Amino acid sequence: MRRRHELLVSPSFCLSGLVLLLALSARAQRQAQTDPSEVAALNAMFSRWGLRASTAWNISGEPCSGAAVDDTDIDSDNKLKLGIKCVCSYNVSTVCHITQLKVYALDVVGQIPAELQNLTYLTNLNLAQNYLAGSLPAFLGKLTRLQYLWASDNEFTGKIPDYIGSLSNLTDLRIGDLTGEVSSLAFVANMTSLSTLYGDIVCYLTTFY
Ligand SMILES: *[C@@H]1O[C@H](CO)[C@@H](O)[C@H](O)[C@H]1NC(C)=O
Ligand SMILES: *[C@@H]1O[C@H](CO)[C@@H](O)[C@H](O)[C@H]1NC(C)=O
Ligand SMILES: *[C@@H]1O[C@H](CO)[C@@H](O)[C@H](O)[C@H]1NC(C)=O
Ligand SMILES: *[C@@H]1O[C@H](CO)[C@@H](O)[C@H](O)[C@H]1NC(C)=O
Ligand SMILES: *[C@@H]1O[C@H](CO)[C@@H](O)[C@H](O)[C@H]1NC(C)=O
Repeated sequence: MRRRHELLVSPSFCLSGLVLLLALSARAQRQAQTDPSEVAALNAMFSRWGLRASTAWNISGEPCSGAAVDDTDIDSDNKLKLGIKCVCSYNVSTVCHITQLKVYALDVVGQIPAELQNLTYLTNLNLAQNYLAGSLPAFLGKLTRLQYLWASDNEFTGKIPDYIGSLSNLTDLRIGDLTGEVSSLAFVANMTSLSTLYGDIVCYLTTFY
């Protein structure tokens, strides 16, 4: 007992430096936590859609952990159908925000839940190949960080909303298969970042240009 105590308080700079470093990094890791409103929103959306997270995704604990913060790229992996990615460098690496959400080809039935608007840090949203219905909600226009918006192959109805034009950083929009009304797509003229536009809407585009 006594010996161990002496070892801990020994004035070795090297050892105390190492202990301090370890303590600091443990603290930093423990402190980086997902914004609670995003956790609540994510869980609410999952509950509405009847989804269960994969084991790689820590939905019951801290969602921005494990596969959500490693180097894997969820968008390029077609076999990975459900995933999130986070960036944990906010507020001096104490806060994680969810930046990517992928719910792809899972035959999800329902609408886009209102809770999605709480994921304000999203840059990539992939909801393609489900049975999502209803109109595209106006709050999508407030997710101004979006760069990728993939919502094609669903059962959405109504127009492609003009507010999509306010997503100035959008580079890749895949949003075909809206039925019912012809979208003007005039808003595309203002979207300087946009480089990919995919979907049934392409036929209207030719008349636009
Ligand atoms: C979403 O954010 C609003 C405030 O912006 C809050 O009132 C609401 O409870 C949040 N919803 C969820 C599911 O976190
Ligand atoms: C899940 O989150 C909890 C904390 O909420 C953490 O203790 C645990 O290590 C995490 N699991 C994984 C696989 O990241
Ligand atoms: C950043 O962290 C500090 C210290 O924990 C906290 O007081 C502050 O409210 C946080 N700011 C934001 C924007 O979360
Ligand atoms: C859009 O992208 C630019 C350049 O990467 C960035 O500085 C800006 O903050 C982004 N805007 C939003 C709303 O995320
Ligand atoms: C393009 O942006 C300008 C300036 O913000 C606005 O006045 C105009 O209505 C926009 N055009 C379309 C088609 O959205």
